[in-house]
Amino acid sequence: MKDIRKVVIPVAGWGTRSLPATKNIPKEMLPIYNKPVIQYVVEEAQRANIQDVIFVTNRDKSVIEDHFDYNLQLESVLQRAGKLDKLEEVRRVAEMVNVMSVRQKKQLGLGHAVMCARDLIRDDPFAIMVGDDLMFGGVPGIGQLIEVAMAEKLPVVGVMEVPWEKVSKYGIIDGEEVAPGVFRVKDMVEKPAREDAPSRLAIVGRYVLTPDIFDYLDKVKPGKGGEIQLTDAMQSLAHDKGMMAVRMSGMRFDAGDWAEFLTANIYFALQDEDLRYELLGMLKNFVQFN
Ligand code: UTP
Repeated sequence: MKDIRKVVIPVAGWGTRSLPATKNIPKEMLPIYNKPVIQYVVEEAQRANIQDVIFVTNRDKSVIEDHFDYNLQLESVLQRAGKLDKLEEVRRVAEMVNVMSVRQKKQLGLGHAVMCARDLIRDDPFAIMVGDDLMFGGVPGIGQLIEVAMAEKLPVVGVMEVPWEKVSKYGIIDGEEVAPGVFRVKDMVEKPAREDAPSRLAIVGRYVLTPDIFDYLDKVKPGKGGEIQLTDAMQSLAHDKGMMAVRMSGMRFDAGDWAEFLTANIYFALQDEDLRYELLGMLKNFVQFN
């Protein structure tokens, strides 16, 4: 398999779970401590040596591309004010990756969003990172998948164990464990009822796919609300050509879920030595009186 150089990051959804915060601000731009959600996702890609980022956006999301561009006016203000550490920080973000973008004109689901990037991907294998899913740990999440994709020369999907009562919220795989944490996928099913779920290994927002996925996406019949599910196309790809799954190590936060979003904020704020003790003190007081 060729090196993975491109990642598709779909960010075109409405973010309805996060309203009213997301009425005019994309969910992916909400801050987790001092950085927007999307910056953590792009940093993960960068740590896995992916240089080309393709955002699948909509008409209200250009602020996401702007975040990864220079802001010369701001830079000159920071320069004049002598705030050189901040200047370096905002420049670093602009220089992280090459950014391309494509519009998803109707929000017809994750599979449809990926389809929108077809002409930018062409014939190369590529990664997908869902724009509101945060992964933290030693090896970058998407890097764990790339390693297995290269070794097995097959597409790979990232999975994590979820409690049985949550399986109906995810795509779930049926797999045979061939090495610790590495599975050969036998089947996958989108949002099964608990009693129908083949396991509690849930597909989380990281994938390495081959361009033949587009032919399968072409054939997927739209489901509820006209949505085209990526899992349906991957199921056919797995049956016909084989697919692996990797149980991802590290922590995951779904930024579209308030409890997880707020926990991620506290987690990152606590990593900052300057903030840690003040924050812990406030939290302790708060917990005591609630
Ligand atoms: P979600 O289902 O979590 O996002 O999709 P959403 O639709 O924005 O959020 P809710 O459920 O209404 O709160 C996961 C990712 O896929 C993108 C979203 O932007 C999000 O980053 N997405 C989803 C698209 O790009 N296009 C779509 O049609 C749907």
